[in-house]
Amino acid sequence: MRILVVGGGGREHALCWAIAGSPLCDALYCAPGNAGIARDAECVDIGAEDVDGLLAFAVDNAIDLVVIGPEAPLVLGLADRLDAAGIRAFGPGAGAAMLEGSKGFMKDLCARHGIPTAGYGRFTDAEAAKAYIREQGAPIVVKADGLAAGKGVTVAQTVDEALAAVDEAMTDNAFGDAGAELVIEEFLVGEELSFFALTDGENVLPLAGAQDHKAVGEGDTGPNTGGMGAYSPAPSLTPELEAEVMETIVLPTVRGMAADGTPYLGVLYAGLMLTADGPKLLEYNVRFGDPECQVLMMRLRSDIVPALVAACDGALKNFDLRWSDDAAMTVVLAARGYPGSYEKGTEIRGLDAAEATGAMVFHAGTKADGDRILANGGRVLNVTATGTTIADAQQGAYAAVDAIDWPDGFCRRDIGWRAVGS
Ligand code: AMP
Ligand code: GLY
Repeated sequence: MRILVVGGGGREHALCWAIAGSPLCDALYCAPGNAGIARDAECVDIGAEDVDGLLAFAVDNAIDLVVIGPEAPLVLGLADRLDAAGIRAFGPGAGAAMLEGSKGFMKDLCARHGIPTAGYGRFTDAEAAKAYIREQGAPIVVKADGLAAGKGVTVAQTVDEALAAVDEAMTDNAFGDAGAELVIEEFLVGEELSFFALTDGENVLPLAGAQDHKAVGEGDTGPNTGGMGAYSPAPSLTPELEAEVMETIVLPTVRGMAADGTPYLGVLYAGLMLTADGPKLLEYNVRFGDPECQVLMMRLRSDIVPALVAACDGALKNFDLRWSDDAAMTVVLAARGYPGSYEKGTEIRGLDAAEATGAMVFHAGTKADGDRILANGGRVLNVTATGTTIADAQQGAYAAVDAIDWPDGFCRRDIGWRAVGS
C-alpha cells in the first residue's frame, strides 16, 4: 500500500514509525513531517491544513490510505474530500469532527443520549454568560466553543476569574472565532484519564489506556500545554472501568453519531474525569493524543496498518490488537519558554547517544540543517522508553533524556509521579 500521514509532530512520527514497520506498507509519505520523520517516511512540503494540496498529492501519487494526525484538517473536511475522491481516509469527516471542533456540539450530543458529563450552558452573549456564572457560583469552568490549540479552557476558582474569562474570549477575542461562543460548565473533581478507541462508525475497538501530564510544571502546576509526557498502561483503567466507559460513554456516542447521520470513523479520544459518581466525559478529541500516541505505538505488538484499513472499511467487528505487557513512558523536551514564547533554531546534540540507551526519540518539532538537528517548535522531542514497570520505563526515559545535549530545552523530571509514587 501507498500511505500518506498528515501532520508533523511527535504523534505523526510515532505513527510513521509504526506504519513503516508494516509489511503492507510499500511507500510512506508524510506532509509536512519533520527531521525525525524523514528517517521513516519521505517528507512532502505541504502543510497539514492545506486541504487542496493534500488532496492533489494523494490523487497524483496513487495513495491508498491517508492517516490524518491533527484535528484541524479533520475539522476542515480533509477526510470528506479524500472519500469523495475514492481514497481511504483514516479520521472522521467534518460533521463528525465537530465532536472536537465544537464543545457545545459535544455537550448537546451527551445531553440527547444521556452520556455522563458536567452540567453546562451554551452562550453567545457575554451578559447572559455572566449571569449564569453568578447564579451557579465558583468553582466553574469556562470553555471557548471552537478549536483553541488547548488554550481555550479556564478552570476558575472564583466568580471574578470566570467573569474575566468571559471577557477574554468575548470582548478581547483572545481565541478569535473559537471564542465567539462559550460553554460554561460544572467543575468536576477526580482523577483524569485518557481513553482511546478505534471505530469504523459502528464497531468499536478499545485501545490501551494512557495518562498524560498537561501542566508545564512539576507536580502538575503552571499553565496547560499540549502535554509534557505520558505513560501507558494507565493504572486507573481497570477492566471494569473500561467496560463502564464503553457502555456509558463511547458506545452511546458512536451509536448517536451514526443515528444523527454523521457516523464517526477513526480514533476517538475521550478525556475523562473519574468522579465519585463514576466516569464523566470532559471532552472528545477526534484524533490520537499527542504525546499519548507515542506510548501506545511503543506498546502495540500487532501491525497497525490492517487496523487502520479495517476502520476505514467498516471491518472492525471481531478485530483484535495485541499489546505488550511492558509499560512505556515518553518525556517531552520543550524549548525554554514554552508554552509562552520561545526561540527556534537552537541546535540539539546527543540524539544518537540517547537512542544508544535503548530509548526511541520521536521528533515533535525539529528540522535538519545539513547534519545538524535544530529545534523548530515548542514541543521538540519525545524521549520514549519501555520497561517491565512504569518505574522502569521512567528510569529508561530519563537516562536517555540525560544523554541529550540541548541547553535551550527543558523537561519535567516527574512524568509518571502518580503511578510511580515519587
Ligand atoms: P479540556 O480541553 O476540555 O479537556 O480541558 C482542559 C483541562 O481543563 C482538562 O484536562 C481538565 O484538567 C480541566 N477541565 C476541563 N473541564 C473541566 C471540568 N468540567 N471540571 C474540572 N476540570 C475541567
Ligand atoms: N495530550 C493531549 C492532547 O493530545 O490533546
